[in-house]
Amino acid sequence: MTGDGVVVNGVRHRLDPAAMSRRLSQWLRDDVGERTVKVGCEEGACGACTVLLDDEPVPSCLVHCGLVDGGRVDTAPAFTATGPGSALAQQLVAAGGLQCGFCTPGIAATMTALLRGGSVTPEQVRAALVGHACRCTGYAAIVSAVLAARDDVATGRDDS
Ligand code: FES
Ligand code: FES
Repeated sequence: MTGDGVVVNGVRHRLDPAAMSRRLSQWLRDDVGERTVKVGCEEGACGACTVLLDDEPVPSCLVHCGLVDGGRVDTAPAFTATGPGSALAQQLVAAGGLQCGFCTPGIAATMTALLRGGSVTPEQVRAALVGHACRCTGYAAIVSAVLAARDDVATGRDDS
């Protein structure tokens, strides 16, 4: 994937030469204006900056823009608009799983990808949360919300 820029939430953005060596996280925040992308450790350890790159969750602080030229990035406003991501967003609110909200977009990216893959178990949810450091919570409400979203998707209660 080279030369076409990056499609962010359905809109194509050109990468100028100076952007090629920048972190995807900073480019998304500063150039594209996607402030829902949060930056914590900048070492790939906290998961706060996770976005969907060609539908796969990646820590955007570890990715240089030059590597995603020609790719597609979805951030929280896009992947929570419909389908499993939307169901998850609604259940995070219902379960009180948002807390301060700083790590929520990153967690939601990872969990949306998990839910899109089909039915998930509590163990799979907890395993996927290992890459996300949340200072607010014991994670129980987040796990409950993901499982409730799973059930919504399975029973057609999501809006996809
Ligand atoms: S800011 Fe990217 S993983 Fe922490
Ligand atoms: S919700 Fe506050 S750090 Fe995770």
